[in-house]
Amino acid sequence: MRIIVADNYEAMSKIAADNIQEVITEKNDAILGLATGSTPIGTYEELIKRYEEGKIDFSKIRTINLDEYIGLHPNHNQSYRYFMNEKLFNHININKENTYVPNGSAENIDEEAKNYDKIIENLGGIDIQILGIGNNGHIAFNEPDKALNVGTHVTSLAQNTIEANSRFFESLDDVPKKAVTMGIGQILKAKKILLLANGKNKAEAIKGILSGKITTDNPATMLQLHSDVTLIIDKEISDEIINCN
Ligand code: PGA
Repeated sequence: MRIIVADNYEAMSKIAADNIQEVITEKNDAILGLATGSTPIGTYEELIKRYEEGKIDFSKIRTINLDEYIGLHPNHNQSYRYFMNEKLFNHININKENTYVPNGSAENIDEEAKNYDKIIENLGGIDIQILGIGNNGHIAFNEPDKALNVGTHVTSLAQNTIEANSRFFESLDDVPKKAVTMGIGQILKAKKILLLANGKNKAEAIKGILSGKITTDNPATMLQLHSDVTLIIDKEISDEIINCN
């Protein structure tokens, strides 16, 4: 595992964009696995800037997102499809038909989940997967549990995830309680994985990834099974980890 300590959020975002740009430079029709949440917003801003400067061409790029809330229409302003359009796709020369986010308002959501794995397979696999991490170690919506799923599936959000995500909704009650998410096995199939984390509330979860132990209580610890993971953390996290040891 490669661990990079960035001075701050801006530096973390630039390093993440460098890693993504490198993949696109090598393969102009790369499959990017994308994430939502606050963490990758700076990375997307950096990618938009590089597109505007003529450094990155997204015309042949395909993207596949990790997850989506169940019950939110793609046009809902808190859906992850809406987030991706607003934060990235509307500002670059990507063909939206080549961007995939699960449809959380699909009539048959189990079928939607099954089809999603087929889409990934048909695309030929993910070249680089961007990940954030929850305070509880979740990646995508794979929450701590007795067992973790391999493929894309329907899941319930952990209470602390509902609370953390309520900052984007008017009230706790408005936060969807279920989601469709790629499974851990699907994430581990990506050729490269880039996990970004900033802020000391993520330190405990990150410690797990560096522990040499795997536990379903911290789903991100599974990343230790992958041979090409880059962890980009900020100084706040590294200081917190060092101070605790
Ligand atoms: P955040 O969420 O980027 O908004 O902190 C990360 C996550 O829950 O995976």
